[in-house]
Amino acid sequence: MSSTLPIGIFDSGIGGLTVASAIHHLLPKEQLIYFGDTAHLPYGDKSPEAIKYYSLKIAKFLLDNKCKVIVIACNTASSHAFHELVHFLGDQIPIINVIDPVIDKMLKTDRYKKIGVIGTKSTITSDIYAKKFKEANPEIQVSSLATPLLAPMIEEGFFNNTISHTVINSYLSSPKLKGIDSLILACTHYPLIKKEINEFYKGKIDIINTAEIVADYVKERLTKLSLLNNDKPPQHQFYVSDYTSSFESSTRLFFDEKIHLTHYPIWD
Ligand code: DGL
Repeated sequence: MSSTLPIGIFDSGIGGLTVASAIHHLLPKEQLIYFGDTAHLPYGDKSPEAIKYYSLKIAKFLLDNKCKVIVIACNTASSHAFHELVHFLGDQIPIINVIDPVIDKMLKTDRYKKIGVIGTKSTITSDIYAKKFKEANPEIQVSSLATPLLAPMIEEGFFNNTISHTVINSYLSSPKLKGIDSLILACTHYPLIKKEINEFYKGKIDIINTAEIVADYVKERLTKLSLLNNDKPPQHQFYVSDYTSSFESSTRLFFDEKIHLTHYPIWD
């Protein structure tokens, strides 16, 4: 396989751009093909079957576009569709989720004893973080809280304002999150409100930025596979299943260069 091939990344909407942007900054020579399934946003309130179905179709699209690796830049799809995608792709190309690299990294230190997790309803219902931490170290306590308003709120451009401040404070005041030493932002939309979350905790706990951890992991995997690109890459490509102006403006927020956004009706 050629190292000049692109990295495929997908999410329900703009959330995965936090991961794409972290990869772009760490690996500026890589070409990215991003798919935002805006037609089905939010994934967080869909059934696991629907999420698997959407994810398989998008993975096929990225494979057809000759990606050398696929990154599921969405916790909800990582929770429910990762195994199906591993099975579907077989040994054609590797696939990376956004959950395992974060858990592995946190387990490398013994500083986390009571971990909070916030994410979509679907991710939290899957209980995937608690199960994986328990399997690795039964002494670690995990308290998870579904925060379903956050992804649609961010998708609509509501962050760093009074509305987002009220919603975030109300969720984070939940007794479930009392006494935590760290908080995993288990939805790729949430790095966009990290500053507000930090303000709530006044820097007293570690807010785990999954986007950067996943970017480091992508670099590690590509290095091991001798698939890091050394040439100047062609322009990134961004696809959405339904055109929204907020997607376009958010993409410009992350990728300052001129972006090429294509409406690709994968579901027709
Ligand atoms: N950004 C996604 C996640 O990481 C999904 C948000 C949504 O579509 O509900 O879970």
